Parts: sequence; structure tokens; C-alpha cells
Amino acid sequence: MIFGRLTRIFTRLYQFFFYNEYYRRSVYLAPRSRLGLNTYIGDGTNINGPCYIFSNKQASVRIGRHCAIAHNFRVRTRNHLVCYANMQDKLQKIVGGPSLSRDQGGVVIGHGCWIGDNVTILPGVCIGNGVVIGAGSVVTGDIPSYCIAVGTPAKAIKRRFSLELIDQLEDIKWWYWPKEKLEENVEFFSIDLTSFSGDLKSMVK
Ligand SMILES: CC(C)(COP(=O)(O)OP(=O)(O)OC[C@H]1O[C@@H](n2cnc3c(N)ncnc32)[C@H](O)[C@@H]1OP(=O)(O)O)[C@@H](O)C(=O)NCCC(=O)NCCS
Repeated sequence: MIFGRLTRIFTRLYQFFFYNEYYRRSVYLAPRSRLGLNTYIGDGTNINGPCYIFSNKQASVRIGRHCAIAHNFRVRTRNHLVCYANMQDKLQKIVGGPSLSRDQGGVVIGHGCWIGDNVTILPGVCIGNGVVIGAGSVVTGDIPSYCIAVGTPAKAIKRRFSLELIDQLEDIKWWYWPKEKLEENVEFFSIDLTSFSGDLKSMVK
């Protein structure tokens, strides 16, 4: 128990000193995470294990607000060219050949998503709001909002809620609420939406 508490204190200090901007916006970024220069993580998102997010001037990575991202999360915006004999940057520099790196487009992850352990997102992918990505998936193409997607390549296997409810959630945009409004709306966050039908807005305080 003491060890757990010490780890939490250490982690908060680490965030405060090394990722102060995230600390202020309640973003949790596990120690030993590595982020590319052009990465944006929305308020309240948690990345619970060390992650590696590659991004650069040519290709950004944008992650929405209040997402839950588990361990060993990888995002790539770049591939190696495979048309030359060699595929290793170091050797290509030694021989003076053309660059092997090919930026293939940024990655966007919506608000309120849950991403399981050991997930890799490949270049150019757009993941909607409220999406679940199953453990161990490799995401190679776009995933529509509120779907559960699993496997390699990740495919949507089901929608979390009815289309009518999804429309309402997209109108409500709870992920933009300030902390006080989030806290006031315990009832809204306690509804089982899989069996709910009706006016969700009327449940919002
Ligand atoms: C994605 C997930 C939430 C799906 O849960 P679910 O909606 O209850 O789905 P089910 O268990 O009913 O599975 C539906 C189908 O998808 C398959 N499936 C589920 N998760 C899968 C995964 N991660 N990879 C590949 N296939 C998966 C199941 O085998 C099943 O296939 P079938 O219909 O052919 O039998 C869950 O399986 C998962 O991966 N959770 C992540 C756990 C994790 O990483 N936690 C980190 C800490 S927060």
C-alpha cells in the first residue's frame, strides 16, 4: 500500500516537472512515454502505460479529451520505403542513398475513446468519438464513432449504442463540459445507455 502511494506521488511529481502543460490539463501520461513534437492530447485523457507516439511537422497526432488508453500504445505516422535494397536508415545514410522515410499522414483519435493494451495505430487513421479498440489490435483504417473494433486489421464488430442515441451524444458533447458540470452530472454518467431510449438531453443538469 505504501509502495502504491509512493508510486502515485512520484508519478505526479514527474508529470509536474516534465509534462507541466499536461499536468495542468489533467492529462495523465505514464512515465517513460515518448511523444513526437506534433502531438496533441486533449484534457482529461489518461495514457496508463508508457506509450510511443511518433509525429512530426508533416504529420500530427491528435488525441481527444477524456480517453482511456492502456499500456503499450503505439502510433506511427511514417513508414520506410521498401523499394530499395536496404530498408535501414543508418545504412542508407552511410551509403548516401535517398531517404527511406515516408510520412503517410497524421492520426486523429476522437473524444471519450477506450483503447486496450498493446494497440498500434498506423499512419493516416481517423478514429471517431466514443470508440473502443480491443487489446492487441492493429488499426490500419478509419473506425466510425461509437464502434467496438478488434483484431488485425481492426474491424468494427458492433456499435455501442443505437444511432439515435449516438446523435444525441454527439449533440451533448459532454467531453467539453468543465469539471464542475461533469461533477454535477453523476446521474447522466450513471445511465446504462445500452438500454436507454428517450431524450438524453433532459437528463443533463
Ligand atoms: C474489445 C473488448 C472490449 C470487446 O469486448 P466485448 O464487447 O465484450 O466483445 P466480446 O467478448 O463479446 O467479443 C466479440 C467478438 O470479438 C472477439 N474479440 C474480442 N476482443 C478481441 C480482441 N481484443 N482481439 C480480437 N478479437 C476480439 C471475440 O473473440 C468475439 O469473437 P466471436 O464473435 O467470433 O466469438 C474486449 O475484448 C477487449 O479487448 N478489452 C480490452 C482489455 C484491455 O486491454 N484492458 C486494458 C486495461 S483498461
